[in-house]
Amino acid sequence: MKNATKFAHLGRPKIGIGTSVNPPIVRASTLLFDKADDLYNGGHRIYGRHGSPVHDALSEAFCELENGAGATLTPSGLSANTLSILANVKAGDHILVTDSSYGPIRNFCNTQLTKFGIDVEYYPPGIGAEITKFIRSNTACILLESPGSLSMEIQDLPAIIKVAKPRKITTIVDNTWSAGLVYAPLDMGADVVVHAATKFFSGHSDILFGAVVSRTKAMAMKVTKTAVAYGNSTSPDDAYQILRGFRTVVTRFEQQEKSAIALAKWLSKHDKVKKIVHPAFDSHPNHSLWNRDFTGSSCLFSIVLKPSPETEVLAVLDRLKIFAKGFSFGGFESLVIHCDPQLNRDHDPKFGGPLVRIACGLENIEDMKNDWQQALSDLTLSHSDA
Ligand SMILES: Cc1ncc(COP(=O)(O)O)c(C=O)c1O
Repeated sequence: MKNATKFAHLGRPKIGIGTSVNPPIVRASTLLFDKADDLYNGGHRIYGRHGSPVHDALSEAFCELENGAGATLTPSGLSANTLSILANVKAGDHILVTDSSYGPIRNFCNTQLTKFGIDVEYYPPGIGAEITKFIRSNTACILLESPGSLSMEIQDLPAIIKVAKPRKITTIVDNTWSAGLVYAPLDMGADVVVHAATKFFSGHSDILFGAVVSRTKAMAMKVTKTAVAYGNSTSPDDAYQILRGFRTVVTRFEQQEKSAIALAKWLSKHDKVKKIVHPAFDSHPNHSLWNRDFTGSSCLFSIVLKPSPETEVLAVLDRLKIFAKGFSFGGFESLVIHCDPQLNRDHDPKFGGPLVRIACGLENIEDMKNDWQQALSDLTLSHSDA
């Protein structure tokens, strides 16, 4: 059965007489028991923080999506990342983080993990099998994000897993870009996949939510126990909305993917654009890895403008009317950010011009192109490129 069909039916109540299509929202902090013995005898939920029926349905949907053995739901995509790391490290360990990872994850690693005596090292995302050079006897985890936030590098996941597995190093992959629809890291042998469900599964830019999906039951238990220990829980209302997002995610994703390809193609021919950075195009340096490991692309890509003063780049963004300035993607609305102020890398990706990230929403593609046409036409390039 294909995803679109599966997601239309997953986690729905068994049909009886007049059954509601969707599972009910149960709001509870306290759960009650008619027998005192049931308070402590295990095997069931004893408190609201441990979930509800709609959380169970949503966990099942994430497991289906990623072919996982268990899912842990978290209050945000960032907490999905931090909990999956915390579940797999201890004081004295060393972790390897892709230099292309989402900025706030870097902030967590640098300000929190280091406080507990965990050594954090950033590796170039294009390293592949050469990651062996970075491995130490105490390396506990490798964090991957493919493609990387902003700079869109595709990582050689199979090569990294081949190095990690025999050494019992946990591989954690942020799979938000693909929404789990066009990239399957667990099937390739990764241990943990992380989603910022805030993006495609919310789809409407009004919920923060995350999920950690584990390949084995043992790993899922480890992550869930960590989430419980830290007091992480999510509201049933939010879980309900994310499950609702599952019903339409395939259609929205495919439409937004199509628009991103059409817009990138159009921008690649624009005389103010130096290059597009989209892994589905053969101009992308890691296109062959994308071709090998992915079955599609996403709504998000970047472009490099021809060298121009920063004020000019900001003016382009300010002239855009459909593409609003905001940090996200996967919602129904198109977004844009300039990346250079947050490209704090140990291994500089060097684009040779201002990097701009574009997230296509569900608006009409001709309107999107017209918006960029009017915004770019007045861009004044630096002297040598004019
Ligand atoms: C790749 C990636 N991972 C994680 C996150 C964090 O998600 P959230 O905003 O839900 O904390 C983001 C947010 O932009 C992201 O782009």
